[in-house]
Amino acid sequence: MQHQRMVPFKIVSMDSLGQGVSKETDKITFIFKTLPGDEGQARVTSAKKGVQFCKLTQLEKPSPLRTEPECKHFNNCPSCHYLHTPYEQELLFKKESLKNMFYKTALPEIKVTPAVRRTHYRNRMQLHYHKGKKLLGMLDAKDQTIAPIPDCLIGVEGILNEIKNLYQNQNWLKAAHHQPEQGHVEIYALDGQIKISWNQNYAHGGFTQVFNEMNQLLKAELNSWSKKDPSFELLDLFAGNGNLSEKMNYSKRLCSDIYQKKISPDFFSQDLYAPEAVKNVKQKLSQIGMKPEVLLVDPPRSGVKNLHEWVAELNPLKIIYVSCDPHTLVRDISSLIDYKISDLQLFDFFPSTFHFETVAFLEKK
Ligand SMILES: C[S@@+](CC[C@H](N)C(=O)[O-])C[C@H]1O[C@@H](n2cnc3c(N)ncnc32)[C@H](O)[C@@H]1O
Repeated sequence: MQHQRMVPFKIVSMDSLGQGVSKETDKITFIFKTLPGDEGQARVTSAKKGVQFCKLTQLEKPSPLRTEPECKHFNNCPSCHYLHTPYEQELLFKKESLKNMFYKTALPEIKVTPAVRRTHYRNRMQLHYHKGKKLLGMLDAKDQTIAPIPDCLIGVEGILNEIKNLYQNQNWLKAAHHQPEQGHVEIYALDGQIKISWNQNYAHGGFTQVFNEMNQLLKAELNSWSKKDPSFELLDLFAGNGNLSEKMNYSKRLCSDIYQKKISPDFFSQDLYAPEAVKNVKQKLSQIGMKPEVLLVDPPRSGVKNLHEWVAELNPLKIIYVSCDPHTLVRDISSLIDYKISDLQLFDFFPSTFHFETVAFLEKK
């Protein structure tokens, strides 16, 4: 049932999901597309004990942090969260959000690497469709609505052209002729070509980081970090095709991922969430005579809940945790009582949205 109740709001801060937070009523109120200083009225979309989630309906006093969004879909699209404020402000919100998540931990100053562009960066985009409703666009996971985005700005040029083409004359309905009534389509750039896949798993052809230039900057940082030490043995978990560690200064390396195909001699295919994963990887390391001093992990958003088990078994001197979800990063790192964070960095791989990559460098105490 759709809630119709309206509530007044006055935004006092941003949360880690890019929602403005108001404390005007007896419940804490979260509203997307608002900013600190905004005041107005919002419609309650869902509520539970002590909190409610609302949609902005009337802005009575706009925040001084507001600017006109560059994208005409911004107000209705669930995918971007910060195009109504300057990029410098977006970065401040992100840095503050990361700092707040580590409130229990002593931290070095967080170094921020801004995005080289705020739009036109994604080399992979996923849209959802509903044939009966003739809708193609971004899915709002909260209410399952689809917002059309024919003039989206977030993808690289070739992808945006392909999206325009899908919308033109509703070409996508013809292209989806043999597809189920509802589903998703992925448009991605690979090997200099734009490809389309219907109803496959995300990145089914193999994971690649979505922002090419930011990927290069992150790798440059990892490479220069690796040159500070004499060369070491490296275990790269959730390695994909070994992207992050390929140019690091290691003497020996083992990469592991769920990929089935054997990409190179230093690749070990393993479901790293399986109960026997730690034992299997350890066995593989001992077969090839490796004792890694450095552990690099770059898991999906769900993180590595049993990181402490990996660390207890492998006893690395240093750990590099690259994360696309700081909530799970904080959870996983907090179990490592024998390690301290020597460096914490934010790489803005996902400008205009609340997402970013975090890199935590840890050393044995
Ligand atoms: C954030 S990506 C990182 C990939 C890589 N480090 C890179 O930079 O391209 C997460 C990786 O986790 C892998 N993955 C997801 N589930 C997994 C599982 N159960 N076991 C092992 N790897 C998994 C994916 O295949 C993907 O390559």
